[in-house]
Amino acid sequence: MEYRHLGRTGIQVSALSYGSWVTFHTQVGIDAAVESMTIAYDAGVNFFDNAEAYADGKSEEVMGTALKKLGWRRGSYLVSTKLFWGLNEGVNEKNTLNRKYLIEAMNGSLKRFDLDYVDLVFCHRPDPTTPIEETVWAMHNLIEWGKALYWGTSEWSAAEIVSAIEIAERHHLHKPVMEQPQYNLLSRERMEKEYTRLFADYGYGTTTFSPLAAGLLTGKYNNGIPADSRGALQGLEWLRERFTDQEAIEKVKLLGKLADEIGVSLSKMAIAWCLKNPNVSTVITGASRVEQMHENMKAMDVVEKLTPDVMSRIDEILSTYKKN
Ligand SMILES: NC(=O)c1ccc[n+]([C@@H]2O[C@H](COP(=O)([O-])OP(=O)(O)OC[C@H]3O[C@@H](n4cnc5c(N)ncnc54)[C@H](OP(=O)(O)O)[C@@H]3O)[C@@H](O)[C@H]2O)c1
Repeated sequence: MEYRHLGRTGIQVSALSYGSWVTFHTQVGIDAAVESMTIAYDAGVNFFDNAEAYADGKSEEVMGTALKKLGWRRGSYLVSTKLFWGLNEGVNEKNTLNRKYLIEAMNGSLKRFDLDYVDLVFCHRPDPTTPIEETVWAMHNLIEWGKALYWGTSEWSAAEIVSAIEIAERHHLHKPVMEQPQYNLLSRERMEKEYTRLFADYGYGTTTFSPLAAGLLTGKYNNGIPADSRGALQGLEWLRERFTDQEAIEKVKLLGKLADEIGVSLSKMAIAWCLKNPNVSTVITGASRVEQMHENMKAMDVVEKLTPDVMSRIDEILSTYKKN
C-alpha cells in the first residue's frame, strides 16, 4: 500500500480506503463488515469512511461494532463521519450545518460508533442558509473538544471552501483541510478544473468517492440492471437513470475493451486511473462482496500499466462524453 499525506496535514492516509455507503446494514451485516474491513486492513488500508446519514445511522453502528470485534489499535486506523442531512425531522435538525445540529449530530455519531473521537469529520454538503462563519466556529469547537481531529467539506464549491478557509485564518481557528468529492472516469470536472487553485494555493487534501461511478464502471450495467446490484435496490431509484445512460454505457464498453487489451479488469483500471491523480489523497472504494474487496485492493498493481499512451487513449474515449 502507498500512503499519501492528507493535503498539507501531517496525517497519512492509505491511497486506497474503504467506505460503507449503501452497503453497511443494507447489504452487509456485522460479520461481513468484519470480513471486508479485515481484507482492507490486511491490504494496508488505514481509513474507513462513514456518515451519519448512511442507513440512517445504522452504518456507523455496524462499523463501530465491527471495530470492537476487530480490536485494532486505535492509532492504527482513521474513521470518518459526515454531517448534514440529519436523522430527525425537527426544523433545526436536517439539511443544515447550524451550530446546534453539528454539535448534537457529532455526539450522536460518536455514540453510535462507540468511539471517543473520529479522525475526520466532513460537512456532507454546503448549507447556503447558515453563515459559513457559524459552521467554521462549530467545526473548530468539535476539534478543540477532541471529538474530531481534522475537519473538511464534501461537494462544496471551491468558492465556499476558500471562504471557510479565510474565515478560519482570520480568527485563528482550525481550518478545513480536505474535501470529499466524487471523482471517476465519468466525473472529472471538479477535481481537474474547479479545485485546481485549492490544491496549488492551500494544499487541500481529498478523499475521493465513487471511483467506479457506483458500479457503472465495472461494466455490470452494460446490458441492463442485474438483480443483485446496487441498481436494483429499493430507495436508490435515482441512481437508475445513471445506470441506464446509453451514452455513458458506450464509453464504458470502449473502456472495457481497452482494459482487456492491457490485460486488467475494468474495475481495477478505473480505480487505478483515480490513483494516478496526485491531488487525490485517497480513493474511497466501496464493495458489497468480499470478492470485490479482494479485486479492488489489487488496483495499486495496475497503476504502472496506465502508461502515458494508455492514459491518452482513455482521454480519447472519454472526450466525446458530454457530462465529462
Ligand atoms: N461524500 C459523499 O457524498 C459520498 C457519496 C458517495 C460515496 N461516498 C463514499 O465513497 C465510498 C465509495 O463510493 P461507492 O460505494 O459509490 O464506490 P464505487 O466503487 O463507485 O461503487 C461501489 C459499488 O460498486 C460495486 N463494485 C465494487 N467493486 C466491484 C467489483 N470489483 N466488481 C463488481 N462490482 C463492484 C458494488 O456494488 P454492487 O452491490 O452493485 O455489486 C459496490 O458497492 C462510499 O462507501 C462512501 O464512503 C461519499
